[in-house]
Amino acid sequence: MENDLQAIVTQAEAILKTVKSRAEWEQAKATILGPNGSLTQAAKGIGRLSKEDRPAFGQALNQAKKKVEGFFKTSLELIENQADIHSLGEKTDPSLPPVPHHLGGTHPLTNVRRKVVSIFRKIGFTVAEATEVETEWFCFDALNTPEDHPARDAQDTLFFPADSKWSNIAQKNKEHHVLRTHTSSVQIRTLFKEKPPLRVIAPGRCFRRDTVDATHSANFHQTEGLYVDKNVTIKDLKAVLDYFLKELFGDQLETRLRPSFFPFTEPSFEVDLKAPNLGKLSNKWIEIMGCGMVDPEVLKLVNLNPDEWSGFAFGLGIERVAMILHGIDDIRHFYQNDQRFLSQFSNAT
Ligand code: DAH
Repeated sequence: MENDLQAIVTQAEAILKTVKSRAEWEQAKATILGPNGSLTQAAKGIGRLSKEDRPAFGQALNQAKKKVEGFFKTSLELIENQADIHSLGEKTDPSLPPVPHHLGGTHPLTNVRRKVVSIFRKIGFTVAEATEVETEWFCFDALNTPEDHPARDAQDTLFFPADSKWSNIAQKNKEHHVLRTHTSSVQIRTLFKEKPPLRVIAPGRCFRRDTVDATHSANFHQTEGLYVDKNVTIKDLKAVLDYFLKELFGDQLETRLRPSFFPFTEPSFEVDLKAPNLGKLSNKWIEIMGCGMVDPEVLKLVNLNPDEWSGFAFGLGIERVAMILHGIDDIRHFYQNDQRFLSQFSNAT
Protein backbone atom coordinates (compact mmCIF):
# COMPACT_ATOMS: atom_id res chain seq x y z
CA MET A 1 0.00 0.00 0.00
CA GLU A 2 2.87 2.32 0.64
CA ASN A 3 3.93 1.62 -2.92
CA ASP A 4 0.51 2.87 -4.02
CA LEU A 5 1.16 6.11 -2.15
CA GLN A 6 4.50 6.51 -3.91
CA ALA A 7 2.77 5.90 -7.24
CA ILE A 8 0.23 8.64 -6.46
CA VAL A 9 3.00 11.11 -5.61
CA THR A 10 4.74 10.31 -8.91
CA GLN A 11 1.42 10.60 -10.75
CA ALA A 12 0.72 14.03 -9.19
CA GLU A 13 4.14 15.30 -10.18
CA ALA A 14 3.69 14.05 -13.74
CA ILE A 15 0.16 15.49 -14.19
CA LEU A 16 1.20 18.89 -12.85
CA LYS A 17 3.96 19.10 -15.43
CA THR A 18 1.32 19.08 -18.17
CA VAL A 19 -1.09 21.50 -16.47
CA LYS A 20 -1.26 24.90 -18.20
CA SER A 21 -4.20 26.75 -16.75
CA ARG A 22 -6.02 27.28 -13.50
CA ALA A 23 -8.91 25.14 -14.78
CA GLU A 24 -6.61 22.24 -15.62
CA TRP A 25 -4.99 22.65 -12.21
CA GLU A 26 -8.38 22.41 -10.47
CA GLN A 27 -9.17 19.34 -12.52
CA ALA A 28 -5.87 17.69 -11.52
CA LYS A 29 -6.46 18.58 -7.90
CA ALA A 30 -9.87 16.88 -7.95
CA THR A 31 -8.33 13.73 -9.48
CA ILE A 32 -5.88 13.37 -6.61
CA LEU A 33 -7.05 15.34 -3.56
CA GLY A 34 -10.81 15.60 -4.21
CA PRO A 35 -13.33 13.38 -2.38
CA ASN A 36 -12.99 10.75 -5.09
CA GLY A 37 -9.34 11.53 -5.77
CA SER A 38 -6.73 8.81 -5.73
CA LEU A 39 -5.02 9.96 -2.53
CA THR A 40 -8.30 10.33 -0.64
CA GLN A 41 -9.32 6.86 -1.73
CA ALA A 42 -5.93 5.39 -0.78
CA ALA A 43 -6.23 6.96 2.67
CA LYS A 44 -9.43 5.05 3.22
CA GLY A 45 -7.39 1.79 2.94
CA ILE A 46 -6.15 2.40 6.47
CA GLY A 47 -9.33 0.76 7.71
CA ARG A 48 -8.30 -2.52 6.18
CA LEU A 49 -4.92 -2.60 7.92
CA SER A 50 -4.06 -4.34 11.13
CA LYS A 51 -3.55 -2.18 14.20
CA GLU A 52 0.23 -2.64 14.07
CA ASP A 53 0.54 -1.56 10.43
CA ARG A 54 -1.61 1.51 10.81
CA PRO A 55 0.96 3.94 12.38
CA ALA A 56 3.53 3.30 9.62
CA PHE A 57 0.90 3.74 6.91
CA GLY A 58 -0.44 6.85 8.61
CA GLN A 59 3.04 8.38 8.59
CA ALA A 60 3.60 7.44 4.95
CA LEU A 61 0.19 8.89 4.09
CA ASN A 62 1.00 12.21 5.78
CA GLN A 63 4.32 12.48 3.99
CA ALA A 64 2.71 11.66 0.65
CA LYS A 65 -0.02 14.25 1.27
CA LYS A 66 2.51 16.92 2.18
CA LYS A 67 4.52 16.24 -0.95
CA VAL A 68 1.44 16.26 -3.19
CA GLU A 69 0.13 19.48 -1.63
CA GLY A 70 3.57 21.04 -2.09
CA PHE A 71 3.50 20.14 -5.79
CA PHE A 72 0.07 21.69 -6.17
CA LYS A 73 1.14 24.86 -4.39
CA THR A 74 4.23 25.34 -6.54
CA SER A 75 2.24 24.54 -9.66
CA LEU A 76 -0.43 27.13 -8.79
CA GLU A 77 2.18 29.83 -8.18
CA LEU A 78 3.68 29.09 -11.57
CA ILE A 79 0.31 29.27 -13.31
CA GLU A 80 -0.53 32.58 -11.60
CA ASN A 81 2.83 34.09 -12.48
CA GLN A 82 2.33 33.09 -16.08
CA ALA A 83 -1.14 34.67 -16.04
CA ASP A 84 0.32 37.92 -14.64
CA ILE A 85 3.02 38.01 -17.28
CA HIS A 86 0.43 37.35 -19.95
CA SER A 87 -1.82 40.15 -18.70
CA LEU A 88 1.08 42.63 -18.89
CA GLY A 89 1.23 42.08 -22.64
CA GLU A 90 4.26 41.98 -24.83
CA LYS A 91 7.67 42.65 -23.40
CA THR A 92 8.69 46.28 -23.75
CA ASP A 93 11.95 47.37 -25.24
CA PRO A 94 13.45 49.95 -22.86
CA SER A 95 15.78 51.20 -25.55
CA LEU A 96 12.89 52.54 -27.68
CA PRO A 97 12.18 56.30 -27.61
CA PRO A 98 9.23 57.24 -25.36
CA VAL A 99 5.72 57.65 -26.76
CA PRO A 100 5.09 61.41 -27.02
CA HIS A 101 2.64 62.58 -24.38
CA HIS A 102 0.48 65.58 -25.12
CA LEU A 103 0.02 67.96 -22.27
CA GLY A 104 -2.99 70.24 -22.47
CA GLY A 105 -2.18 73.86 -23.22
CA THR A 106 -3.74 77.17 -22.35
CA HIS A 107 -6.11 78.85 -24.80
CA PRO A 108 -4.73 81.83 -26.73
CA LEU A 109 -7.35 84.09 -25.10
CA THR A 110 -6.25 82.90 -21.67
CA ASN A 111 -2.64 83.63 -22.60
CA VAL A 112 -3.49 87.17 -23.67
CA ARG A 113 -5.63 87.81 -20.60
CA ARG A 114 -2.84 86.62 -18.31
CA LYS A 115 -0.29 88.74 -20.13
CA VAL A 116 -2.48 91.86 -19.92
CA VAL A 117 -3.09 91.30 -16.21
CA SER A 118 0.61 90.72 -15.50
CA ILE A 119 1.58 93.95 -17.31
CA PHE A 120 -0.88 96.00 -15.25
CA ARG A 121 0.06 94.24 -12.02
CA LYS A 122 3.59 95.60 -12.42
CA ILE A 123 2.24 99.13 -12.09
CA GLY A 124 0.00 98.49 -9.13
CA PHE A 125 -3.31 97.45 -10.68
CA THR A 126 -5.29 94.70 -8.96
CA VAL A 127 -7.86 92.44 -10.58
CA ALA A 128 -11.55 93.17 -9.99
CA GLU A 129 -14.13 90.60 -10.95
CA ALA A 130 -17.87 90.72 -11.31
CA THR A 131 -20.58 88.47 -12.64
CA GLU A 132 -21.40 87.98 -16.31
CA VAL A 133 -25.05 88.63 -15.55
CA GLU A 134 -25.53 92.34 -14.83
CA THR A 135 -28.44 94.64 -14.27
CA GLU A 136 -29.53 97.22 -16.76
CA TRP A 137 -28.74 99.97 -14.29
CA PHE A 138 -25.10 98.93 -13.72
CA CYS A 139 -24.54 98.12 -17.38
CA PHE A 140 -26.04 101.36 -18.74
CA ASP A 141 -27.65 103.97 -16.44
CA ALA A 142 -24.74 104.17 -14.04
CA LEU A 143 -22.44 104.58 -17.02
CA ASN A 144 -24.36 107.62 -18.16
CA THR A 145 -25.96 105.69 -21.02
CA PRO A 146 -29.49 107.07 -21.48
CA GLU A 147 -32.68 105.09 -21.88
CA ASP A 148 -32.87 105.72 -25.64
CA HIS A 149 -29.29 104.64 -26.36
CA PRO A 150 -29.16 101.92 -29.06
CA ALA A 151 -27.08 99.62 -26.81
CA ARG A 152 -30.16 99.27 -24.63
CA ASP A 153 -32.25 97.93 -27.46
CA ALA A 154 -33.19 94.25 -27.41
CA GLN A 155 -31.53 94.01 -30.82
CA ASP A 156 -28.15 94.66 -29.21
CA THR A 157 -28.39 93.27 -25.71
CA LEU A 158 -29.46 89.93 -24.26
CA PHE A 159 -32.13 90.62 -21.64
CA PHE A 160 -33.40 88.15 -19.05
CA PRO A 161 -37.14 87.82 -18.45
CA ALA A 162 -38.45 90.33 -15.90
CA ASP A 163 -39.25 87.63 -13.33
CA SER A 164 -35.84 85.89 -13.41
CA LYS A 165 -34.20 85.73 -9.99
CA TRP A 166 -30.51 86.41 -9.32
CA SER A 167 -29.97 86.57 -5.60
CA ASN A 168 -26.23 87.22 -5.93
CA ILE A 169 -26.55 90.21 -8.27
CA ALA A 170 -27.50 93.40 -6.49
CA GLN A 171 -30.02 95.56 -8.34
CA LYS A 172 -30.28 99.30 -7.95
CA ASN A 173 -34.04 99.41 -8.38
CA LYS A 174 -36.23 96.81 -10.00
CA GLU A 175 -34.39 96.91 -13.30
CA HIS A 176 -33.99 93.98 -15.70
CA HIS A 177 -31.04 91.65 -15.69
CA VAL A 178 -28.93 91.41 -18.83
CA LEU A 179 -25.86 89.55 -19.96
CA ARG A 180 -23.23 92.26 -19.63
CA THR A 181 -22.43 93.92 -22.94
CA HIS A 182 -19.09 95.22 -21.68
CA THR A 183 -16.88 95.03 -18.60
CA SER A 184 -17.42 98.75 -17.91
CA SER A 185 -20.07 97.92 -15.29
CA VAL A 186 -17.24 96.59 -13.10
CA GLN A 187 -16.08 100.22 -12.81
CA ILE A 188 -19.29 101.07 -10.99
CA ARG A 189 -19.36 97.95 -8.81
CA THR A 190 -15.75 98.64 -7.80
CA LEU A 191 -16.36 102.32 -7.07
CA PHE A 192 -19.24 101.37 -4.75
CA LYS A 193 -17.08 98.85 -2.92
CA GLU A 194 -13.68 100.54 -2.69
CA LYS A 195 -12.46 103.99 -1.78
CA PRO A 196 -10.02 105.77 -4.10
CA PRO A 197 -7.15 105.97 -4.79
CA LEU A 198 -7.68 102.80 -6.77
CA ARG A 199 -6.34 101.02 -9.83
CA VAL A 200 -8.18 97.99 -11.12
CA ILE A 201 -8.18 95.84 -14.16
CA ALA A 202 -11.32 93.77 -14.82
CA PRO A 203 -11.04 91.04 -17.42
CA GLY A 204 -14.11 89.02 -18.33
CA ARG A 205 -16.62 87.65 -20.78
CA CYS A 206 -19.20 89.86 -22.46
CA PHE A 207 -22.23 89.20 -24.65
CA ARG A 208 -24.02 91.03 -27.44
CA ARG A 209 -26.69 90.09 -29.92
CA ASP A 210 -24.16 90.12 -32.74
CA THR A 211 -24.48 87.92 -35.78
CA VAL A 212 -21.33 85.85 -35.94
CA ASP A 213 -18.87 86.63 -38.70
CA ALA A 214 -15.08 86.93 -39.05
CA THR A 215 -14.90 89.91 -36.68
CA HIS A 216 -18.05 89.54 -34.53
CA SER A 217 -19.06 87.05 -31.92
CA ALA A 218 -22.06 87.12 -29.58
CA ASN A 219 -19.69 86.01 -26.84
CA PHE A 220 -16.32 87.71 -26.47
CA HIS A 221 -13.87 89.02 -23.86
CA GLN A 222 -12.81 92.43 -22.67
CA THR A 223 -10.58 93.96 -20.08
CA GLU A 224 -11.66 97.09 -18.36
CA GLY A 225 -9.26 99.40 -16.56
CA LEU A 226 -10.01 102.08 -14.01
CA TYR A 227 -7.68 104.51 -12.26
CA VAL A 228 -9.05 107.04 -9.75
CA ASP A 229 -6.91 109.35 -7.67
CA LYS A 230 -6.30 113.07 -7.14
CA ASN A 231 -5.09 115.24 -10.04
CA VAL A 232 -5.23 112.50 -12.66
CA THR A 233 -4.76 113.92 -16.16
CA ILE A 234 -4.80 112.76 -19.78
CA LYS A 235 -0.99 112.62 -19.54
CA ASP A 236 -1.33 109.84 -16.93
CA LEU A 237 -3.78 108.01 -19.17
CA LYS A 238 -1.47 108.26 -22.19
CA ALA A 239 1.61 107.22 -20.19
CA VAL A 240 -0.08 104.16 -18.70
CA LEU A 241 -1.50 103.03 -22.05
CA ASP A 242 1.83 103.62 -23.85
CA TYR A 243 3.62 101.53 -21.24
CA PHE A 244 1.00 98.79 -21.50
CA LEU A 245 0.92 98.63 -25.30
CA LYS A 246 4.72 98.68 -25.58
CA GLU A 247 4.97 95.79 -23.12
CA LEU A 248 2.44 93.91 -25.23
CA PHE A 249 3.52 94.72 -28.79
CA GLY A 250 7.15 95.80 -28.43
CA ASP A 251 9.14 99.00 -27.99
CA GLN A 252 8.92 100.19 -31.59
CA LEU A 253 5.25 100.88 -31.16
CA GLU A 254 3.70 104.31 -31.73
CA THR A 255 0.32 105.28 -30.34
CA ARG A 256 -2.14 108.10 -30.87
CA LEU A 257 -5.32 109.18 -29.14
CA ARG A 258 -8.17 110.00 -31.50
CA PRO A 259 -11.16 111.94 -30.16
CA SER A 260 -14.23 109.77 -29.80
CA PHE A 261 -17.33 109.43 -27.67
CA PHE A 262 -18.29 107.15 -24.81
CA PRO A 263 -21.10 108.18 -22.45
CA PHE A 264 -19.07 107.48 -19.29
CA THR A 265 -15.82 109.26 -20.19
CA GLU A 266 -15.24 112.91 -21.03
CA PRO A 267 -13.18 113.51 -23.05
CA SER A 268 -13.14 110.10 -24.77
CA PHE A 269 -10.64 108.64 -27.22
CA GLU A 270 -9.94 105.71 -29.44
CA VAL A 271 -6.37 104.51 -29.12
CA ASP A 272 -4.62 103.65 -32.38
CA LEU A 273 -1.30 101.90 -32.64
CA LYS A 274 1.29 101.42 -35.34
CA ALA A 275 4.21 98.99 -35.21
CA PRO A 276 6.66 97.45 -37.69
CA ASN A 277 6.39 93.88 -36.36
CA LEU A 278 2.74 93.02 -36.92
CA GLY A 279 2.82 91.00 -40.13
CA LYS A 280 0.24 92.24 -42.65
CA LEU A 281 -0.80 94.96 -40.22
CA SER A 282 2.73 96.36 -39.90
CA ASN A 283 3.14 100.13 -40.14
CA LYS A 284 -0.59 100.83 -40.39
CA TRP A 285 -2.65 102.68 -37.80
CA ILE A 286 -4.88 100.12 -36.10
CA GLU A 287 -7.65 100.93 -33.65
CA ILE A 288 -7.02 98.96 -30.47
CA MET A 289 -9.14 100.26 -27.59
CA GLY A 290 -11.40 102.92 -26.14
CA CYS A 291 -10.53 105.17 -23.22
CA GLY A 292 -11.13 108.51 -21.59
CA MET A 293 -11.27 110.54 -18.40
CA VAL A 294 -13.99 109.30 -16.04
CA ASP A 295 -17.04 111.52 -16.57
CA PRO A 296 -17.78 113.73 -13.50
CA GLU A 297 -21.37 112.44 -13.67
CA VAL A 298 -20.11 108.90 -13.01
CA LEU A 299 -18.03 110.09 -10.05
CA LYS A 300 -21.02 111.93 -8.58
CA LEU A 301 -23.18 108.88 -8.93
CA VAL A 302 -20.82 106.86 -6.73
CA ASN A 303 -20.65 109.71 -4.22
CA LEU A 304 -17.22 111.00 -5.14
CA ASN A 305 -16.65 114.74 -5.44
CA PRO A 306 -15.37 115.43 -9.00
CA ASP A 307 -13.53 118.51 -7.73
CA GLU A 308 -11.51 116.28 -5.46
CA TRP A 309 -11.20 113.07 -7.46
CA SER A 310 -10.43 112.37 -11.08
CA GLY A 311 -9.56 109.31 -13.08
CA PHE A 312 -9.31 107.54 -16.37
CA ALA A 313 -10.83 104.35 -17.75
CA PHE A 314 -10.19 102.13 -20.72
CA GLY A 315 -11.68 99.07 -22.37
CA LEU A 316 -9.87 96.57 -24.54
CA GLY A 317 -11.02 93.52 -26.53
CA ILE A 318 -8.99 90.42 -25.67
CA GLU A 319 -9.83 88.74 -28.99
CA ARG A 320 -8.71 91.84 -30.86
CA VAL A 321 -5.33 91.83 -29.12
CA ALA A 322 -4.86 88.11 -29.77
CA MET A 323 -5.77 88.55 -33.44
CA ILE A 324 -3.30 91.41 -33.93
CA LEU A 325 -0.52 89.70 -31.97
CA HIS A 326 -0.77 86.42 -33.83
CA GLY A 327 -2.08 87.53 -37.24
CA ILE A 328 -5.39 85.65 -36.81
CA ASP A 329 -7.94 86.74 -39.39
CA ASP A 330 -11.15 85.17 -38.10
CA ILE A 331 -12.53 85.47 -34.55
CA ARG A 332 -14.41 82.17 -34.93
CA HIS A 333 -11.14 80.21 -34.65
CA PHE A 334 -11.08 80.99 -30.93
CA TYR A 335 -14.29 79.13 -30.24
CA GLN A 336 -14.15 76.12 -32.53
CA ASN A 337 -11.87 74.03 -30.34
CA ASP A 338 -9.80 72.82 -33.28
CA GLN A 339 -6.56 71.32 -31.97
CA ARG A 340 -4.71 72.28 -35.15
CA PHE A 341 -5.39 75.92 -34.27
CA LEU A 342 -5.14 75.76 -30.48
CA SER A 343 -1.94 73.71 -30.26
CA GLN A 344 -0.04 76.52 -32.00
CA PHE A 345 -0.55 78.76 -28.98
CA SER A 346 -0.35 76.44 -26.04
CA ASN A 347 2.99 77.84 -24.92
CA ALA A 348 2.63 81.33 -26.30
CA THR A 349 2.01 84.31 -24.11
N1 DAH B 1 -17.18 99.74 -22.91
C1 DAH B 1 -16.68 100.14 -24.20
C2 DAH B 1 -17.14 99.15 -25.24
O1 DAH B 1 -17.52 98.05 -24.91
C3 DAH B 1 -15.19 100.20 -24.19
C4 DAH B 1 -14.65 101.34 -23.38
C5 DAH B 1 -14.46 102.57 -23.96
C6 DAH B 1 -14.38 101.18 -22.04
C7 DAH B 1 -13.95 103.64 -23.26
C8 DAH B 1 -13.89 102.26 -21.30
C9 DAH B 1 -13.68 103.48 -21.93
O2 DAH B 1 -13.61 102.15 -20.00
O3 DAH B 1 -13.18 104.50 -21.19
O4 DAH B 1 -17.12 99.46 -26.40
